[in-house]
Amino acid sequence: MELFLDTAEVDEVREIASWGILDGVTTNPSLIKKSGRDFKTVVEEIANLCGGPISAEVTALDAEGMVKEGLDLKASLPENVIIKVPCTPEGLKATKELSDKGIGVNVTLIFTASQALMSAKAGAMYVSPFIGRIDDTGHNGMDLISDILQTWHNYPEIKTKVLAASIRHPTHVLECMRLGAHTVTMPTKIFRQLMKHPLTESGIERFLLDWAEVENAGNA
Ligand code: E4P
Repeated sequence: MELFLDTAEVDEVREIASWGILDGVTTNPSLIKKSGRDFKTVVEEIANLCGGPISAEVTALDAEGMVKEGLDLKASLPENVIIKVPCTPEGLKATKELSDKGIGVNVTLIFTASQALMSAKAGAMYVSPFIGRIDDTGHNGMDLISDILQTWHNYPEIKTKVLAASIRHPTHVLECMRLGAHTVTMPTKIFRQLMKHPLTESGIERFLLDWAEVENAGNA
């Protein structure tokens, strides 16, 4: 399972990449705005810190504009940058054109299994269903992951990876693991939460106390 960081904060990418388990990064226009920095500079710095796929999102609404932006991003940024496009009919056209040129595309803002299937047919490398935003509407976002994975099971010729996005808490990630999602993108806070357990912490504390006694007794 691939673990991606959902951020435009370079220091966070540096920290999680240092753990040795970071497979990629997703950014979006809102995350870039929050960083307060220049879009291409941020993506370039991130792409140099993490060798996996780094999603950079286009903002055009028409296919021609999306392809133009995508080609410009590919030409001016490191090789591992992939292009994120919204899940619309124009986005499908752009996905087809970019993926036919061998460019990786992540189709974002997916809220139904049919949107995911059509994006896969257009050649997407990743489809990004947004779990948390579905939960926000009072429905169960995990059902969408389950529906998409069932669809993939029904049509084994689909090679597109299911990238669970809009992750709000560690349980979302554990559920994705259980269902077999290919990839999860999550904020830094959730990376940290997933590695934390009070019994690990108290266990280390106990071992260190006992070891100090071993040393004091001169048995180390
Ligand atoms: C995914 O690529 C998106 O950047 C992200 O997961 C959106 O999450 P949000 O719903 O918390 O904004």
